[in-house]
Amino acid sequence: MSKKPVRVAVTGAAGQIGYALLFRIASGEMLGKDQPVILQLLEIPDEKAQNALKGVIMELEDCAFPLLAGIEAHSDPMTAFKDTDYALLVGSRPRGPGMERAELLAVNGAIFIGQGKALNAVASRNVKVLVVGNPANTNAYIAMKSAPDLPAKNFTAMLRLDHNRAASQLAAKTGMAVSDIEKLTVWGNHSPTMYADYRFATIGGESVKGLINDETWNRETFLPTVGKRGAAIIAARGLSSAASAANAAIDHMRDWALGSNGKWVTMGIPSDGSYGIPKDVMFGFPVTTENGEYKIVQGLDIDAFSQECINKTLKELTDEQAGVAHLL
Ligand code: NAD
Ligand code: LMR
Repeated sequence: MSKKPVRVAVTGAAGQIGYALLFRIASGEMLGKDQPVILQLLEIPDEKAQNALKGVIMELEDCAFPLLAGIEAHSDPMTAFKDTDYALLVGSRPRGPGMERAELLAVNGAIFIGQGKALNAVASRNVKVLVVGNPANTNAYIAMKSAPDLPAKNFTAMLRLDHNRAASQLAAKTGMAVSDIEKLTVWGNHSPTMYADYRFATIGGESVKGLINDETWNRETFLPTVGKRGAAIIAARGLSSAASAANAAIDHMRDWALGSNGKWVTMGIPSDGSYGIPKDVMFGFPVTTENGEYKIVQGLDIDAFSQECINKTLKELTDEQAGVAHLL
């Protein structure tokens, strides 16, 4: 017997990331090849954006995806999020060359108040929310705080792109396959302060730290390369990353919904106090996922350098949080 369709809301559906994301959701790459989906797509009411959304919908129809059980176009989050089981909050302004992601808070922060309230009012009580729009951690925090009737744990921010970037750098450095990397994580904020940590990582069962054995490379090449990758892509493309961001969103939601099979993945989640991160700070942690729930990997040793890095990214996040307190 075929499964009942689930509702997937995507905001910013006519944008760059939307264009790289929707076709993969509709083809079953996110929730499984046996899971029908209804897409509830949100764009701003502006005529140009709504027309662009119509075009994307025509293309989705023309794919004749067997799992696509319905497509809706919306200009109001109160209708777009109705009964939604999954919400991918992408819609917001991207940064341009020379900007930092935190600078987007003033323009994008307000979006997540309205969308958090709408989710609170009309979404499924089990909705799984992923915030992609930057600054992703603090926007997710804003949405979570604007939705007091939903469990805080249902709100997450995307650090999976950083995780995937780190994995790819490590595979290139060691000459090993990216798919063999385990136990990698990225702590903290989706910003250059993030701490990509391969101290526990293995490739094909061997210690990555042991294989590389070069702390200078870690501090002077690896960390800045991963931390500033978004800016490097903007400088090269003139536009922010889109296909890789959509890919990371698919990875994040798939693992959350279907399980990571014991593998560590990185998710930005509201802290439960683990590793001294104050409760509710939306922080990148190593997690494993099973039965639709994530669990922070516990008991990792935090050495002095790692603690310094974690403190720095935490300070940035608590400063961002303080900067939006007046909105909440
Ligand atoms: P884009 O400008 O191509 O598309 C954004 C779309 O969102 C536009 O179509 C716009 O009309 C729409 N939009 C704006 N406000 C909206 C609202 N209130 N409701 C619904 N839709 C709205 O941008 P993009 O390249 O798709 O990037 C989207 C966001 O994702 C940016 O903030 C970008 O910085 C961020 N991003 C995050 C990551 C990450 O790893 N977390 C990676 C890449 C990009
Ligand atoms: C990225 O990391 O590629 C995105 O967050 C876009 C950006 O502004 O860096």
